[in-house]
Amino acid sequence: MSGRKTVWMTGASSGLGLHTAMALRDDGWRVIAGARSFEDGEADGMIRLKLDVTDEESVRRFCEEAAKIGPPDALVQCAGMLVLGSCEETTTEEFRRVIDTNYLGMVRMNRAVLPLMRQRGGGKIVLFSSINGLLGIPFQSAYTASKHAIEGYAECLQMEVKPFGIQVMLVEPGDHRSGSDKYRPHAAEMSPDSPYAAAYESGTAVIHHDEQNGSDPDRLGRKIARTLDRKTIPFRKRIASPDQHLAVYIHKLLPAKLNAAILRTYYIGKKQ
Ligand SMILES: NC(=O)c1ccc[n+]([C@@H]2O[C@H](COP(=O)([O-])OP(=O)(O)OC[C@H]3O[C@@H](n4cnc5c(N)ncnc54)[C@H](OP(=O)(O)O)[C@@H]3O)[C@@H](O)[C@H]2O)c1
Repeated sequence: MSGRKTVWMTGASSGLGLHTAMALRDDGWRVIAGARSFEDGEADGMIRLKLDVTDEESVRRFCEEAAKIGPPDALVQCAGMLVLGSCEETTTEEFRRVIDTNYLGMVRMNRAVLPLMRQRGGGKIVLFSSINGLLGIPFQSAYTASKHAIEGYAECLQMEVKPFGIQVMLVEPGDHRSGSDKYRPHAAEMSPDSPYAAAYESGTAVIHHDEQNGSDPDRLGRKIARTLDRKTIPFRKRIASPDQHLAVYIHKLLPAKLNAAILRTYYIGKKQ
């Protein structure tokens, strides 16, 4: 990479965000990383700033401090969480928290960063979606809704900002061995007496198993770093195992009822 470029990142304290931050650092980027658990300072060759993407004032402060260090050539948004629960027993407050973090958090950051990129004549914005941004799976409705929102939003964004030299890329990871249980709480109303209890147990066991046996997060980080180094970046970058690529492909081809039957059987089983 010629000259040192600066990337601002959200959700860089753990999981795929941390792996991506490390890969970008290793590729020579100056990484300014934000997370709630960070104190302002420097560590592991990266600059850390405290950031809560659900808080407008925190976003404003992060951008102000980061701009003093180096304006953004790229913004990579990984901050995210999910709540596991049935649609019926996930409260509106839990839905709100997930949407506020995953989707509105991105909106807030983009609104703060877009003027800076426009003034500089360009930039790259990377938004972490998920395979769940393309298809729904049981007991992850709040998360799935937030990722579908990101997908629709990004399609609008890329068309609007193209004339300003700003490129947008959606990263759509399949399961990776990275996510922390801390960011995957069970909905408070889920209980052993729930009418969904048996299906929920089966579904969350499959979700947990797939993540534990998922793809390598280091590899994902390196792929994103390599892609960001290109002059032109793709709008969609799916990083998933062959069977998850196939699931998305099949989802596009098959009738909705058949898709639902396949996914339901996979997560919940035929008997329930
Ligand atoms: N892991 C997977 O298999 C997988 C698959 C598909 C998509 N993804 C997506 O990849 C991204 C990273 O997920 P992950 O599972 O790898 O990581 P994770 O371990 O769940 O980490 C979540 C990150 O988000 C940050 N975060 C959460 N709430 C925040 C807030 N309000 N403000 C600022 N930062 C916040 C956390 O930092 P603090 O707590 O320090 O703030 C942490 O760095 C997410 O967008 C996720 O949806 C992951």
